[in-house]
Amino acid sequence: MKFFADTSDLDAIKDLADCGMLDGVTTNPSIIAKSGKEFIPLIKEICQICDGPVSAEVASTDFEIMMKEGEKLAKIADNIAVKVPLTEAGLKVCKSLSDNGTMVNVTLCFSPMQALLAAKAGASFISPFVGRLDDIGQDGMDLIADILTIYDNYPQYDTEVLVASIRHPEHILQSARLGADVVTCPPEVIKKLYKHPLTDKGLADFVEDWKKTGQSIL
Ligand code: G3P
Repeated sequence: MKFFADTSDLDAIKDLADCGMLDGVTTNPSIIAKSGKEFIPLIKEICQICDGPVSAEVASTDFEIMMKEGEKLAKIADNIAVKVPLTEAGLKVCKSLSDNGTMVNVTLCFSPMQALLAAKAGASFISPFVGRLDDIGQDGMDLIADILTIYDNYPQYDTEVLVASIRHPEHILQSARLGADVVTCPPEVIKKLYKHPLTDKGLADFVEDWKKTGQSIL
């Protein structure tokens, strides 16, 4: 399963890359607004750190303007995935850009049928938002299971299921159990995966016992 970082924080992106935990990056307008930085130069910098797909989202909801924005974003680097909303106009942009060889990530997916439409429009990635469904009392992971079943039924579509709006490690575990292609996570959630109290305790014991030997490896 691929790990994408759902952030524009360059230090966090570098840190994950250094550990081999970075297969791509996703951003959205809220993430960019939070960064306080200029969008295009920031995406350029991210593309220099990350070899994998880097999602940069269009800002308009109008077809013609989204097309122009998407074409401009696609020129930033070869690994750009243009992110478009799951609307009729967004899927039209998806079809047009993907026909021309640009990766497209269709975002704001909340139903299995929306995911099927994105696959038919040639999306490279579909982004179902699990956390936001959990927030309204639906099980977000049920949506992932449904999309994976549907995509498995129709192997002619090669759209990858990119689980988004991840809030905690359990979402990542369930994604892996279901066989999702990608999870995009806030870096702090990926960091939580390293931790186990028995690892901490075991390491503390080894450090103490090693001291007793009075030896040094170096
Ligand atoms: O980038 C899309 C998605 O991951 C947003 O997550 O936490 O704002 O629901 P969230």
